[in-house]
Amino acid sequence: MLPIVQRRLQSTVATPVKRSNTSLRGVLLGFFAGVSITGFGAYYYLLDEYKSSSNAVVSDLRTDTQYCYNHLPQGELFSKTKNGKTVTRVPCPLDPSHTVWSDKLGRHLKTCNTLRKKLEFESNVSKFPWLVVDFNVQAESALENSPLDYAEFAAFVRRFSDAFKQLYSADLEMSQIDYKYGLEERMNELSNRKHVTQQASLIGHMAHANLLSDGAVYVEFGCGRGEFARYLLRALDTDPGMVAGDKQVLLIDRQSPRMKFDTKMKEEHARGAVCVTRLKTDIKDLDLATAVRSLENPGKVVGFSKHLCGTATDLTLRCLLNAQRDPEFQFSGFLVAMCCRHACKYNWLLEESRAYLKENFGIGQQEFVYLSKMACWATSGVRPGMSENDGADHFTGLNLKQRTEIGLQARRAIDESRVYAMQQRGLSAKLFNYVSPDVSMENSCMLIKNI
Ligand SMILES: C[S@@+](CC[C@H](N)C(=O)[O-])C[C@H]1O[C@@H](n2cnc3c(N)ncnc32)[C@H](O)[C@@H]1O
Ligand SMILES: *[C@@H]1O[C@H](CO)[C@@H](O)[C@H](O)[C@H]1NC(C)=O
Ligand SMILES: [Zn+2]
Repeated sequence: MLPIVQRRLQSTVATPVKRSNTSLRGVLLGFFAGVSITGFGAYYYLLDEYKSSSNAVVSDLRTDTQYCYNHLPQGELFSKTKNGKTVTRVPCPLDPSHTVWSDKLGRHLKTCNTLRKKLEFESNVSKFPWLVVDFNVQAESALENSPLDYAEFAAFVRRFSDAFKQLYSADLEMSQIDYKYGLEERMNELSNRKHVTQQASLIGHMAHANLLSDGAVYVEFGCGRGEFARYLLRALDTDPGMVAGDKQVLLIDRQSPRMKFDTKMKEEHARGAVCVTRLKTDIKDLDLATAVRSLENPGKVVGFSKHLCGTATDLTLRCLLNAQRDPEFQFSGFLVAMCCRHACKYNWLLEESRAYLKENFGIGQQEFVYLSKMACWATSGVRPGMSENDGADHFTGLNLKQRTEIGLQARRAIDESRVYAMQQRGLSAKLFNYVSPDVSMENSCMLIKNI
């Protein structure tokens, strides 16, 4: 996204602006901050605003402002005189996180992307029975973000690591399967085999766990382009151990990337018909049982996912558990390769996961902030030109190698809490590494089965 932003930005700021370079940079830095906070829609609006009144507005700003136009505070400091009248910045009533010139509010309300998106989403909610706002999250208690206390944090790191060593005596089992059905061609033609190696091992594990022959509806969570689903279908088509039958694929992603494999998937199959349905939704709003029931041939559900980031894994676990409350929903199993544990949200963990972290590590809401930061260290690694012993000036006193180890422990603790939660709900669950770390640093996965 950024390159486009930059290009647009350059063409915009090419208009002569009476202001020194440094203060303009301040505005632009704030500008980027604004882009990431309010999103794209507001940004486009902002550019238009910037274009139409760049000279007038910029000279009205305090030179040391750290705000972009979207985030100009309300009030007189940011007012200007137009046709003898004073206009000020007022919050957009549709989304008070951005502000608008008061005289343009009427026009803005007609074009504000926030409104268009909101209305479209509301219309989707009433149109699609499977789309239910916050279906897979619990009522959230407000999280206070207190500033980090580094002495506390460092002490927690030591406590955590001691408890970890007491609790887990061995590393995760490493089990890479070089499954080949449906993947041979690609294995041979590609120079970069990292993705296909991962897909092969994950599909192999699904075959091993009888998840391939047991399903009728294959659901890929956080599917992106749907490449994993495509190769899963190919495996079903070509593995002599599989029974030919009709299949349904349900693709779930909140984004809709370009170059999707949806059409290819439908065309390629050889044994039985394939029906592909894509639902563009956040997993948090997905009523899976209803989605499956609305398919032409609802049946046993097998879930799979490669690199389902942070909260999305926890949302999916709750999504599957919620679906199981529907007596018609038949759940077979779920294989998920996790990633980005640093982006997990304490509130969105399953209750049992929170209890597990509390009991074994004394981790509550505050400590979870530490834990998720530690999880980053697992993949931040030793970069070229650095040694494993570098970085000991870190507040923890740990060098890079030690921090990587702590990071892996943090990651494992989060995953073990997920396994525990699923077991408490009567499912079988286990963790293992499905490829070596040089294929992917995010190399652990969780296999869940309905027994
Ligand atoms: C790291 S990418 C992996 C994409 C693909 N599975 C692969 O292996 O190439 C994660 C995907 O999950 C999607 N995603 C993340 N959080 C989600 C959520 N809460 N609901 C729906 N999709 C989500 C993202 O849009 C993205 O496509
Ligand atoms: C509404 O649903 C359509 C069809 O699935 C989708 O393309 C669109 O992005 C959705 N809009 C929003 C705001 O979620
Ligand atoms: Zn607005």
